[in-house]
Amino acid sequence: MFDAQRIVAFSQQETPFYFYDLALLQQTLDAAKQAADIHNFHVHYALKANFNHRLLNAICKAGFGADCVSGNEVKKAVEIGFRSTDIVFAGVGKSDREIKYALTQDIFSFNVESVQELLVIDGLAADQGKKARVALRINPNVDAQTHHYITTGLDENKFGIAQWELPEAIETLRQCQHIELIGIHFHIGSQITDLNVFKSLCVKVNELNNWFDERGFRLRVLNVGGGLGVDYHQPDASLVPDFLGYFSVFANFLERKPGQEVHFELGRALVSQCGSLVSRVLYVKNGIKKNFLILDAGMTELMRPVLYQAYHRIERLDQTESETEMLHYDVVGPICESSDCFGKEVLLPKSERGDLIVIRTAGAYGEVMASHYNLRNEIRYVYSDDIQQS
Ligand code: LLP
Repeated sequence: MFDAQRIVAFSQQETPFYFYDLALLQQTLDAAKQAADIHNFHVHYALKANFNHRLLNAICKAGFGADCVSGNEVKKAVEIGFRSTDIVFAGVGKSDREIKYALTQDIFSFNVESVQELLVIDGLAADQGKKARVALRINPNVDAQTHHYITTGLDENKFGIAQWELPEAIETLRQCQHIELIGIHFHIGSQITDLNVFKSLCVKVNELNNWFDERGFRLRVLNVGGGLGVDYHQPDASLVPDFLGYFSVFANFLERKPGQEVHFELGRALVSQCGSLVSRVLYVKNGIKKNFLILDAGMTELMRPVLYQAYHRIERLDQTESETEMLHYDVVGPICESSDCFGKEVLLPKSERGDLIVIRTAGAYGEVMASHYNLRNEIRYVYSDDIQQS
């Protein structure tokens, strides 16, 4: 259940802040873990979605691995307590320093995105007298049918090794003494709501799994990435995503060879619904054409609406039974940019200065993408169980 009452209990707090419902997070993690365990699937949590330490602690404790995209994320995962054998490191532009650090930590695998990167890792592993485990990230040219800014698996995207480059990649692998190929990796995009897209991905993975097998590479890992979407429009109708349905697509359509493990890298689906951005109305402007609610949170706290025209549900939190007058508002932030808008023509109860507004489904790619533009304050956050502690 979404913990609106808990947020009201924080209404004396300085706004804006992120509110994290830890009970909902736990419920989500348990559901994902149970659904994955049915098929013996391994899930690495994509830290980029949210690296708040309380969330990470819960995720680590629940038995997930860590999917990292920078040396600092690898470091964070190690500090939180993820086992090195449960850490993977992806990213199209890993620096030498980051690779060296990950090698010293003996992480499970590097998801390698180019032939040149193979050579670099081989050299750096040789310097440390180690053998690096790698999975090749392959661009499968599968359309994720999501926003073009968060589509990653098409030929026009910068990610992964194209299929035509694979012969060169395996030639290079045969020469690299300090690399062990353990698998293939895919990630086609984010906020994918049509499960058929994952069926198409499975078809591609099967094809490539056979291709490697025919060339004498028996892969240990098939890593199919993340991307499962969440319901931004009706969050209360599906606070916990349909993990059973999601994993069963892969159970039904992925052809595992004996002994092969299947790995996932979920981010958004695990943490979106447990996070909300809580803000206060600073000013109400009633214009001739428009009514504006000007909030104390803006694009600096939650960038998604501005960057991807993303929809987030906006609610008046301290709404009382007696309020009946509803108005359309453009809900905007205080930042000096016209695009600093959370939603246009949002139907809300007639609001006043001081009212609390909550922007839902903000746990993923919210706090982590905050910026200091306009020299804004550091973003604050509170947890659902803080009230019991204070
Ligand atoms: N694995 C790789 C290689 C990725 O690039 C990503 C996300 C994930 C896993 C996790 O994907 P998820 O399960 O969260 O969809 N800032 C954007 C989303 C960017 C996603 C980047 N990659 C947004 O706010 O929508």
